[in-house]
Amino acid sequence: MERVLEAEVMDDSEQVLAYAQADFEEENQGFVDQFFTLYPDLENPHIVDLGCGPGDIPIRVAHGYTTCRVTGIDASQPMITYAQQALQKETGIQDRVQFLCQRFQDVTLSSPADAIISNSLVHHVPNPLRFWYCLKKLLKPGGPVLVMDLLRPESPEAAQAIVDEQAADEPEQLRKDFYHSLLAAFTEDEVAAHLAELNLSRLFVDVPDDRHWIVYGQVF
Ligand SMILES: C[S@@+](CC[C@H](N)C(=O)[O-])C[C@H]1O[C@@H](n2cnc3c(N)ncnc32)[C@H](O)[C@@H]1O
Repeated sequence: MERVLEAEVMDDSEQVLAYAQADFEEENQGFVDQFFTLYPDLENPHIVDLGCGPGDIPIRVAHGYTTCRVTGIDASQPMITYAQQALQKETGIQDRVQFLCQRFQDVTLSSPADAIISNSLVHHVPNPLRFWYCLKKLLKPGGPVLVMDLLRPESPEAAQAIVDEQAADEPEQLRKDFYHSLLAAFTEDEVAAHLAELNLSRLFVDVPDDRHWIVYGQVF
């Protein structure tokens, strides 16, 4: 099946509400734990989360890495508003987490990030090469990366079957978005080709389960 693009930025209020209220605890904590396992020894890192959505992952990272600073970046103002509201309810991390409403393509940092993470953003991006180019530009040489996203199924029917199996009891808006996200996602081979095109030879693609790819390693 060919890729079917979906809207890049999630700023429809109903869509944002459904996403912000959904329970992604298992997936998000799994992503954060994997980051800690891959990179346990970062010293006082500034970690940037591209496409941070309602802020759950930056908040989990800040709780896990007590010496880090985290910047969550999302182009959707409603998502950033949810993220800021979520941060206000936290203790012990407020001075180490910030959220910026910007397209990652337009971001400039005062100094390069020590690490970059991103979950479920890449399938939104019309030109994925732009994502990997910006990631390289924003990260210090040798900086570690963890990026995760959905794998595109073989057919619309297969995508619908995944939605029915994994999100049977979720609100209709979330099920619809999940379906469109699966259609817009990349295959493992496509991701490997994107990395090769940008000479990101120290980044590796893996498929940790039947629904996701991850990219990890260092950027030189
Ligand atoms: C599916 S959500 C993932 C949110 C979060 N990373 C998570 O795992 O829960 C994708 C997010 O990427 C954001 N996004 C899409 N294109 C973007 C861009 N060019 N720059 C920054 N954020 C973008 C969307 O607005 C949306 O909030």
